[in-house]
Amino acid sequence: MIVNAVQSAGLRFGMWGAGLAGLGRLGAAGLSAARAPGGFKANAAALLGDPARQMQGMAVLRAFAPNLRLNRELVAAYANSGTVIVTRHADVMDVLCRDDDFEVVYGPRMRELTAGENFFLGMQPGWDYRRDTSAMRLAMRDTDVPARIAPRAADLAAQAVADAGGRIDLPPDLTLMVPTDMVTGYFGLTGVNPADLQGWATRLFWYLFGDLAADPTLGAGAMEDAESLRDALDTAVAARKAAGGDGDDLISRCLALQAAGVPGMDDLGIRNNLLGLVIGAIPTISKACCLAMDELLRRPDALRRAQAAARTGDAAQLAPHLWEALRFNPHNPVIYRRATRDTVIAPGTLRARRVRKGDMVFAVTLSAMHDPAAIDAPAQFRPARPFTDHIIWGTGMHTCFGAQINAAVIPAILMPLLARAGLRRAEGDAGRCDTGGTPFPQHMTLIFDPE
Ligand code: HEM
Repeated sequence: MIVNAVQSAGLRFGMWGAGLAGLGRLGAAGLSAARAPGGFKANAAALLGDPARQMQGMAVLRAFAPNLRLNRELVAAYANSGTVIVTRHADVMDVLCRDDDFEVVYGPRMRELTAGENFFLGMQPGWDYRRDTSAMRLAMRDTDVPARIAPRAADLAAQAVADAGGRIDLPPDLTLMVPTDMVTGYFGLTGVNPADLQGWATRLFWYLFGDLAADPTLGAGAMEDAESLRDALDTAVAARKAAGGDGDDLISRCLALQAAGVPGMDDLGIRNNLLGLVIGAIPTISKACCLAMDELLRRPDALRRAQAAARTGDAAQLAPHLWEALRFNPHNPVIYRRATRDTVIAPGTLRARRVRKGDMVFAVTLSAMHDPAAIDAPAQFRPARPFTDHIIWGTGMHTCFGAQINAAVIPAILMPLLARAGLRRAEGDAGRCDTGGTPFPQHMTLIFDPE
């Protein structure tokens, strides 16, 4: 008991110390942003978008206000009555698993994109969710990942790196190209210009999950893209039907399920399910690859070890370096939910927080992955830590449907690049991750020694 008390006091003092240090560093960063050309206002977005600064902010919250409620509505895209920011690992996991208390909010925008029905990421537990996920699990099989998806990704990535001549712009030449090929080939969405497909999926993802301010221009563009994507899917489904539906891509398998009378697999159901998967697949894999590379390039020692692992040619040796990079620089630093009723987060603890029905709850997974109460030596870059320390594709009922794909495809994409000697950023701005005013990397040029 005494040991426990000493440990828990040590933890608390450690958190306070980290919180105070975070406060100091944030203050210093704020001051230099204010002194930089354009002043604080012009530099605030870059400051807040930097994952290192986000982590300092989270250290402050974990120490002094672990479940912070604001009366302000930070999300305009989905109805809510206030915001709660949840930062401790136990509470983040709890929020993401208490589906009855904290619901997904994306349904209304999902329906706009399908021009009708919801997609399963926008659904609460129930028959519709079980019907769609069950049918799509039968079509998109775990066994496809090692048999088809990963080998194809590895071949394409190796070819792209070999053809690059020592200079590669990651998003267009590698990280978008590979998942787009997966969608046109394995999914079966043929007959579409790859650049169009990338543009639609990227803007639709942004509209669904990242458009917190409800920007009308973005919304108008998303409606056009959704219509184009629906048309492309309708055309592909009709073409596969006309061809007898005997192929072995997702669309053909969905049509086989339709012929067998599986619920939810009418033409419209197939289109809606595919629409959600296409949006989820392309920009995400690309962004995660760029963020993992960006983080490794910031850490020469980690990069050197990741490169040594890549040169073994064994994806299982490389993968932990990438998951650890994503723990510091994740695709999703936050997942949000809305309270379905008045309830309490962390009941019975000193950090208990009352939540009102309608509050938007930000489960800050970035913070959870750095909570010393749950994660051993969270500030250290340790690829050997358990995978459960990484909440990089969500948790609970809505855990990423593509998790197995991500686990195989991201290492497959990055392995041939990381295996190259002399890998470094291109000079100047070209070597930095450029999102071009979107939440997704558009350019990031790396150079390496030609063979
Ligand atoms: C590195 C790439 C990816 C990342 C970081 C990522 C991240 C996530 C996260 C955080 C969630 C949970 C969202 C929530 O709880 O609100 C999620 C769910 C989902 N993802 Fe992914 N994802 C990735 C790739 C993919 C791919 C390749 C696909 C499709 C093949 C996909 C399809 C989905 C779907 C359909 C869901 C909803 C699952 C459900 O509601 O049960 N994602 N993803």
